[in-house]
Amino acid sequence: MEIVIAGAAGGIGLAMVQEVIERFPHANVHATYHKQPPNWQHPNLIWYHTDITQEEQVMALGEQLEHVDWLINCVGMLHTEDKGPEKNLNALDAAFFQHVITVNTLPSLLLAKHFTPLLKRSVAPRFATISARVGSISDNRLGGWYSYRASKAALNMFLKTLSIEWQRRVRHGAVLALHPGTTDTPLSAPFQANVRPEKLFTPERVARDLVGLIEQASPEDSGAFWAYDGSVLPW
Ligand SMILES: NC(=O)c1ccc[n+]([C@@H]2O[C@H](COP(=O)([O-])OP(=O)(O)OC[C@H]3O[C@@H](n4cnc5c(N)ncnc54)[C@H](OP(=O)(O)O)[C@@H]3O)[C@@H](O)[C@H]2O)c1
Repeated sequence: MEIVIAGAAGGIGLAMVQEVIERFPHANVHATYHKQPPNWQHPNLIWYHTDITQEEQVMALGEQLEHVDWLINCVGMLHTEDKGPEKNLNALDAAFFQHVITVNTLPSLLLAKHFTPLLKRSVAPRFATISARVGSISDNRLGGWYSYRASKAALNMFLKTLSIEWQRRVRHGAVLALHPGTTDTPLSAPFQANVRPEKLFTPERVARDLVGLIEQASPEDSGAFWAYDGSVLPW
């Protein structure tokens, strides 16, 4: 089994790597990092230094592999060092918006384009991206977080559309948008104050839940938007 995990140096990404290595001892895991390689090695794990927003780097990663069974994209951002998600219209900033869309939405497009031919060779291909419940349009009651919400809603639309193309081209595959729940990582760290302790998950727990969902997904589930507990989220 060949598993590619993008954004594998992040809180959820690294936990996903460790979970698949434990659950599938014969799998080879190809994991990408962006800035710093994590200090975690395993004989079945290969690290690749990749900026997943750059098409030539995504293409080069694909060219190093002959076939892929699962692709899991864990890349994402909510804030930078000096900018947080917008509370209101006054906080909107064009450069921040473009940065968030580039990191949260574009990578899945590039990965789908360059990895669908490799995934097609698998007997049970899976293309899973970590999305977020706040990308749901019909579930939006609080407002705010304009860039993040828009980037995840666009990501969701892309994944749904990809699942329709896969019905023709990769009929035995499944495309999934997954919500991890609020997870204790650098991404959520500044926003954890009002989260009840039982609703703040460890990356390890989230990885167990999400890998379990990816494993049990079938082609009939393709195009689903699922929370960590398997519940169906509204678009
Ligand atoms: N944590 C939560 O509560 C929560 C809730 C809902 C959804 N999510 C989603 O879960 C996913 C994982 O988030 P996380 O909580 O694990 O956050 P995280 O710890 O901040 O990890 C995000 C990862 O994305 C990588 N990344 C950013 N820009 C990149 C680029 N241009 N190329 C390659 N990699 C890049 C980061 O690498 P560098 O740091 O090296 O740039 C980092 O490893 C995200 O899509 C997030 O939106 C998280």
